[in-house]
Amino acid sequence: MTTVLLLNGPNLGILGDREPEIYGYDTLDDITKYVADEVAGAGWQVVPIQDDYEGGLVRAVHAHRRTTVGAIVNPGALMVAGWSLRDALAAYPAPWIEVHLSNVWARERFRHESILAPLASGVVVGLGAFGYRLAARALLQLCRPESSPESRPES
Ligand code: DQA
Repeated sequence: MTTVLLLNGPNLGILGDREPEIYGYDTLDDITKYVADEVAGAGWQVVPIQDDYEGGLVRAVHAHRRTTVGAIVNPGALMVAGWSLRDALAAYPAPWIEVHLSNVWARERFRHESILAPLASGVVVGLGAFGYRLAARALLQLCRPESSPESRPES
């Protein structure tokens, strides 16, 4: 079974209830379902992991580094200084996409830089839960480019 890792960091377990004017009303279960829906057509499954501790996220990356074809990562505030998560992702051998629900550049200055982003295949910012759908589509494209609509010959 082909699986994709869906990793969410601190404070994302309370989505739906957490500052919904910023993060929206979708819960993490809703978001997991959106991602699962996006990849289901390819026969992929999702391994969803949320942890409020950086070490738990590091362990999740290690545990799934050989068993997943790619990852979607919302590190939450660990984008700013999650160095051990950064090192774990550096050793993750498959493509991964960083996602932020909110437009971090339109917010406080401390959110303007991600130490993880330079390692990501791509970054989706500010599109709410839809950003996770886009990240899932990007992973499908990155992990099986031969089957993407763009690469099919015109008929
Ligand atoms: C977030 C943005 C981060 O700055 C913040 O710490 C979060 C959520 C987002 O999805 O918009 O926890 O990653």
